Order: sequence, then structure tokens, then C-alpha cells
Amino acid sequence: MFSPLVQQTKDHVRTLFQDEGTGHDWYHIDRVHRMAVRLAELEQNVNLEAVELGALLHDIADFKFHGGDAHAGSRASRTWLESLGAPEELIAHVCDIVDNVSFKGAGVPTNQKTLEGKIVQDADRLDAMGAIGIARTFAYGGYVRKPLYDPEIPPELHQTFEAYKNNTGGSLNHFYEKLLLLKDRLNTLSAKHIAESRHRFMEQYVERFLEEWEMRI
Ligand code: ADP
Ligand code: NI
Repeated sequence: MFSPLVQQTKDHVRTLFQDEGTGHDWYHIDRVHRMAVRLAELEQNVNLEAVELGALLHDIADFKFHGGDAHAGSRASRTWLESLGAPEELIAHVCDIVDNVSFKGAGVPTNQKTLEGKIVQDADRLDAMGAIGIARTFAYGGYVRKPLYDPEIPPELHQTFEAYKNNTGGSLNHFYEKLLLLKDRLNTLSAKHIAESRHRFMEQYVERFLEEWEMRI
């Protein structure tokens, strides 16, 4: 049911992402892939193969794990797709999706040019929200040895990618710096709809976290 390029990419990425403990594991890729297909089914005139490859390859060399290099992902995607003999037009399209998928700070635009890119970006952003988004935030925070919360360091709406990358706050700040902003930065109507309850759940969670922290309950 998958195209040969998609099937081989899926097998490759599954192997690469085994034993990953930062919330960017194989099941994150798998959820983004499945969500991207679901969103694609609700849109007209979508290149499904570009969506699937973009979703599967979107975190293949994330800047956070490659010294802040925002293009490592598209280079790794190109090398992989060239090794499979994929057509240049498809490779360029997928690389463009991978290059522009990530959130880079509250004030930094990350617009996807194509419908396929918008779909992959929405699927990735939905996986940063809700119960799973919360779990991933504290998993990543633990990996980089961040405290759960540091009330001395207030959240910041970063205006540059540099400032976003170099943030020093606790994991709870990430809700204000990214997660609670996502619902207004989705591209497709269907993703906006799915995001509503995930957003509400995160708001309730943060409220409860602070109530417990401040011993209001
Ligand atoms: P994107 O999918 O937009 O590229 P990232 O890969 O940067 O997002 O982040 C994926 C997830 O990793 C975030 O949604 C969050 O759960 C976690 N994460 C990333 N940066 C931080 C951070 N500074 N503090 C806590 N969690 C983070
Ligand atoms: Ni991702």
C-alpha cells in the first residue's frame, strides 16, 4: 500500500530512530506520518508521496542535535533519496519541506511554500501539542538537563532563531514559548480543528502545574 520509495524510507528511518529518548523517537515519526496522511486525505490535489516522504524524513537530522545546523536535515534527506534513485523534482520538494518544518521562535516566520509542506508542518505541530506534546516536552527537557520549571527565569517570545535555540528556562517555559502558540500557526482547517482540544488540555495542565507549585491546591 506504500510506494516503494515510501516503504524503503520508512524502514530506513525506523532503524535510525530506535533507542531515541528525547521524544523524537520512531513513534513520533510514525505518528507524524499517520497524521500527515490523515490531513492529506482531507485536502484536494495533494502529492501524497511528497507528504509521506516529508513526514518520514522531517526529523532525520534535526538542528537541535546537529550543532544548530538548520540544513542538516535536507542534506541527509537528499543523500538518502538520491541513493534510491528518486526523481530530482521530488527530492527538491521533500528537501524544501524538511528545511522549513521546524518552529524557530515566536517571532520567526516558518512558512511552508507548498500544500504538502503545510500538511507535514501541521502534523508535526499537532504532535507537539496535547498529552503527548506534554510528555515530549519533559522528556526533551530531561535529555538536555533542564529543570521542570525555574520560576526565576520568565518565558520569552523569541524574535530570532538564535535566541530561541539558546533559551535557558525550565521546560514549563516551552509552553509559553512554543506549545501554546501553535494553534494559531497551523495551516489547514482540519489541523486547526484537531488542535482545539489539545490546546485546551495543555492550558489546563499548565494551570494545574502552577496551582500545585504555588500550593494553591
Ligand atoms: P519542531 O517539531 O517544530 O521542529 P522541535 O523538534 O524543536 O519542534 O521540538 C519537538 C519537541 O521537543 C517540542 O515540541 C518539545 O516537546 C520538545 N522541545 C523542543 N525544544 C524544547 C525546549 N527548549 N524545552 C523543552 N522541550 C523542548
Ligand atoms: Ni518532529
